[in-house]
Amino acid sequence: MAMHRLAAAALAGSVLFAQAGCSGPRSPASPSTPGVPSAIPGMQAEPLRNAAAASGKLVGAAVKSSLLNDAVYAGVLGRHFNYLTAEYEMKWDAIERSRGSRDFRGGDAIVAFGQARGMQTKGHALIWHGSVPGWLAALPAAEFRAAFEAHIKAVAEHFRGQVVAWDVVNEAIGDDGSIRDTIFRQKLGDQYIADAFRLAKQADPQALLFYNDYGGEGLTLKADRIYSLVLGLRAQGVPIDGVGLQMHVNAASRPSDANIAANIRRLVALGLLVNISEMDVRIRDVPGTTQVRLDVQKSTYHSIVGICVAEARCDGVTLWGFTDAQSWIDAQFGADDPLIFDEQYAVKPAYYGVLDALWRR
Ligand code: XIL
Repeated sequence: MAMHRLAAAALAGSVLFAQAGCSGPRSPASPSTPGVPSAIPGMQAEPLRNAAAASGKLVGAAVKSSLLNDAVYAGVLGRHFNYLTAEYEMKWDAIERSRGSRDFRGGDAIVAFGQARGMQTKGHALIWHGSVPGWLAALPAAEFRAAFEAHIKAVAEHFRGQVVAWDVVNEAIGDDGSIRDTIFRQKLGDQYIADAFRLAKQADPQALLFYNDYGGEGLTLKADRIYSLVLGLRAQGVPIDGVGLQMHVNAASRPSDANIAANIRRLVALGLLVNISEMDVRIRDVPGTTQVRLDVQKSTYHSIVGICVAEARCDGVTLWGFTDAQSWIDAQFGADDPLIFDEQYAVKPAYYGVLDALWRR
């Protein structure tokens, strides 16, 4: 958001869409949604989810329940996506702010929004060092295991039948390739990863269970260690169904297409599904004009989404948001425009990259 506040909106394509929305009759591919101004450019564009469905893929977005009451946000989301992830409302610290008292309202609202629109929901994330409630960190060791087990059981049982998949363990491998030294490892040993999958399976036998991480998209050391981890889990009979590759990439220094494809192939060869789980594409480091940056972003989305579309065992691609008006990137990496709709919900070139890839063209 705000890298070039008006640059994207000033693109010729956006202006054309805006004009079509103001003046022309609606095409059959652009049904009206009650409460959503038809002039919103993202409401005129061809639904991504139609293209995804034609290719048998999921196309998802991470969302915040508080924004679902915004008619424009909700309208564009429902028009284009068939898969939802809670950006933070299904995480442990969001659900159980004080011990034993669980608040599922945010997650429930996201599930209900999806159910009303034929969208599926992925649970995210049962065990993550980034969402440890304060009370948990302060627990004596003896009570830690009980809290760990109770959390997975309660949350996965609550959402049983409501989510089709869970990110069971998130980011357990460190950037140096070792098992990250989180509170879970310290209190429970490396075994916590396998335990989390077994507990999730008991609580929700139908959901697909994923290991999810970043920095393991190409053939990096970290990707090798993620591969070894899931290979070991499979060998032990741990119920893991797939690997989520987050895909928070910098267009100026991203993993190559060849390496991403090779990494996905070796995971699939283990019998696992792959899900691209949190994609966004930063462009501030790409040299050149705004138009050049946006074109590089488009080609990045196009080739990476295309790799998933070409792989039968890649179930789909979720974006970590969908509009540059709402993205975690600015706070984490500095001002950028990493998503496929601009701040005014006009389609960016990147939208066409995703659309074309989903159509296999
Ligand atoms: C981030 C959300 O975007 C933020 O809103 C939240 O405060 C912290 O978490 N990897 C993940 C996601 O698996 O859960 C993170 O989401 C981004 C990095």
